[in-house]
Amino acid sequence: MLHNFYAEYLHIRIRPLVKTDLEYLRIWRNDKTMNQFLKPIDEITPEMQKEWFDRECKDPSSYTFAIEEIKDLNRIVGSVAIYDIKGKTAEAGKIVVGDPAAKGKKIGYYALILAMYVGYEKLGIETYLGEVHEENMSAKTNDLRMGFIVTGKHPFVTGGFELEMKLPKKHFWKTHDFLSDIKVYECNEPTEKKDMSGYKVGQTGRFSKTLMQSDVYNFAGIVGDFNPIHINSVEAKKSVFGKQVVHGMLTASLLSTVIGTIMPGESSIYLSQELKFLKPVFFGDTVTAEVSIKEIDREKRILTLLTEEFNQNGNKVVTGEAKVMV
Ligand SMILES: CC(C)(COP(=O)(O)OP(=O)(O)OC[C@H]1O[C@@H](n2cnc3c(N)ncnc32)[C@H](O)[C@@H]1OP(=O)(O)O)[C@@H](O)C(=O)NCCC(=O)NCCS
Repeated sequence: MLHNFYAEYLHIRIRPLVKTDLEYLRIWRNDKTMNQFLKPIDEITPEMQKEWFDRECKDPSSYTFAIEEIKDLNRIVGSVAIYDIKGKTAEAGKIVVGDPAAKGKKIGYYALILAMYVGYEKLGIETYLGEVHEENMSAKTNDLRMGFIVTGKHPFVTGGFELEMKLPKKHFWKTHDFLSDIKVYECNEPTEKKDMSGYKVGQTGRFSKTLMQSDVYNFAGIVGDFNPIHINSVEAKKSVFGKQVVHGMLTASLLSTVIGTIMPGESSIYLSQELKFLKPVFFGDTVTAEVSIKEIDREKRILTLLTEEFNQNGNKVVTGEAKVMV
């Protein structure tokens, strides 16, 4: 569910998930070394991850958080959720600490406590349920240390057994003397607008489309660019390319698609765009627009983006740079 809960303790903060986090989550969930005790699923594509996020934002029974290390790393290192909320009971888990630099800092332990604390304090949860594979030593150690009591077990799809666990509020309060030091707050503005911490240099978004003759004729009709090289096969044959080519600006417009909907997404305002057209794009070519963060001006909230496009053979057809305000 789209929420605005933050919680902090020591070097760990949990915050609402934003779109720019999704690629991290996708990579971590696809990482075989990370998911050996998780339910087996097919490889997650960027589109599947985005669809999941759209569903998650609308699901009133689930709150997912990004986990950040805020002392040394200052970046997202994992995610955690409270979900399946049914009245005063919820599941706690879906936890992953995927950033290798975040290992061994008790981040998984405290992040789950922070998420559960938000549930107890803000959502009226009284009891958490959890499941952990009996051989998942990191997660099991954390859960037992947190006060979860094992209530049963059932066979797991890929072998072995999964322990069923329970943690009532009273027990949670009794076992943790630092809870009063946890800082919980709500941020009223949507997180994606307010929080720049989700943006990191190197973050990339992509969109692919096969550009057909119909796209070119529609574009020519909309903007009035009837240059024969685009719309007249006889004249185009005489040109340096030997056949009709897609308008450069139509190809480049796929960058706008990425910027406006994927990276950085809906919160962005296009400020400028430089373009170099390196190779022709022909009818039927599949162009992938790729936008990645080059520089971040946190004060001015401006991102400098590398904007490139490739055809189906991996040849760069467009390059340039854009600036957006987020
Ligand atoms: C589960 C997970 C979130 C824990 O993150 P973490 O707390 O940062 O993990 P750590 O590696 O620090 O391990 C937690 C504790 O378990 C202990 N532990 C790890 N392996 C152990 C083992 N084989 N035997 C006993 N204890 C073990 C660690 O020593 C650590 O305790 P410490 O803080 O006293 O040193 C992380 O391992 C992860 O992302 N796993 C993949 C996804 C997953 O399995 N999620 C849980 C689904 S139920």
